[in-house]
Amino acid sequence: MGSITFIEHNGTEHIVDFEAGKSLMQIALDNGIPGIDADCGGVCACGTCHVIIEGSAVNITGGATEDELQMLDLTPERS
Ligand code: FES
Repeated sequence: MGSITFIEHNGTEHIVDFEAGKSLMQIALDNGIPGIDADCGGVCACGTCHVIIEGSAVNITGGATEDELQMLDLTPERS
């Protein structure tokens, strides 16, 4: 068990508890985080679940997988 802070584009913070082994998408859905639609249920077919992970937090989450990178290439927000 741990906690994670989701920050919306408008700066609103949501600090939620999570269990190890769940995806960020599932944690966001379980806690009703606005803006995480996750239309395909996490099978890398829609790109509506993506989040922006800052700096050293990538060391905790790990980088995006090849499937995730291909899906993110289709999103206009990605730089
Ligand atoms: S929920 Fe569809 S790509 Fe993540």
